[in-house]
Amino acid sequence: MSEPIKITILGPTGRLGRAICGAVIDHAGFELVGAVVRSESGLAQKDIGALLNRDEIGCLTEVSVELAAENADLVIDASTPEMTVIAAERLAALAGPALITGVTGFTEKQNERLENISATLPILRAGNFSLGVAVAETLVRQAATLPAREWDIEISETHHKHKADAPSGTALLLAKAAAGRRGVSLEEAAIWSREGQTGEREIGTIGFAVTRGGSVIGEHSVRFLSELEELTISHRAFDRSVFAHGALEAASWMFNNGGRREPGLYSMQNVVTD
Ligand SMILES: NC(=O)c1ccc[n+]([C@@H]2O[C@H](COP(=O)([O-])OP(=O)(O)OC[C@H]3O[C@@H](n4cnc5c(N)ncnc54)[C@H](OP(=O)(O)O)[C@@H]3O)[C@@H](O)[C@H]2O)c1
Repeated sequence: MSEPIKITILGPTGRLGRAICGAVIDHAGFELVGAVVRSESGLAQKDIGALLNRDEIGCLTEVSVELAAENADLVIDASTPEMTVIAAERLAALAGPALITGVTGFTEKQNERLENISATLPILRAGNFSLGVAVAETLVRQAATLPAREWDIEISETHHKHKADAPSGTALLLAKAAAGRRGVSLEEAAIWSREGQTGEREIGTIGFAVTRGGSVIGEHSVRFLSELEELTISHRAFDRSVFAHGALEAASWMFNNGGRREPGLYSMQNVVTD
């Protein structure tokens, strides 16, 4: 049997990080070899298994990316945009393991920084690890060929009340797919919210609606509306494990049968199409 793929996790104590850690521990094809926690958290040098209320795995949390990733084939990131950029810089400086980030909410500047770093480090940036969402993105791109003059695009998303950014990274991903296919930037096309005397809907715009509440894991729908009909592409995650499952699919793709992907910026589109 081939050696397990060795994984280090950034942000193991968060909702996504915990799910990915659990999936890595439970999967014979992977081994958890490190995890990075915030220095202020008081959770450094704890056994990662114990931190997750599981059996000890004999591997301690670190505050240093370099130490935690020392023995890793890949780093999976479930932390924050600031931490992602710092970690990417450190991994690139080390010529270290490739980075798979599931974090959302990057500023334009942070995205640019990741793009620059990807010239020397393979980075897979996945606003949503779900394979279904990756396919939805392809379908949205295809549907966006319907003429903007006739078909209005409206995107709605719902997430749990703890989510920090809006619209969700996935809503942005789907909107960018549609805008790109129409040959406009999302910034040009987006109507982020509506209130008061908004006037008539402008042709070619892409509207957003955001709902936050309860424990909803993630729901997205992209509606294409004409005077005569409607086409809706929608996706609903039933269980948070969908993200961990997709993260491991991304890890297998990035590991590339024991090889290493070339430096570059990748997405879940590569995972579902290559
Ligand atoms: N791609 C996907 O499929 C997907 C799915 C779900 C969520 N997400 C995104 O993933 C990110 C995390 O979401 P979440 O719901 O898991 O958030 P969360 O519960 O708030 O977890 C964030 C994690 O990051 C850690 N962290 C914060 N600053 C850090 C630092 N400087 N160094 C190391 N770790 C640090 C936190 O540690 P403390 O506990 O010590 O603060 C915590 O473990 C968000 O951007 C979210 O939108 C993506």
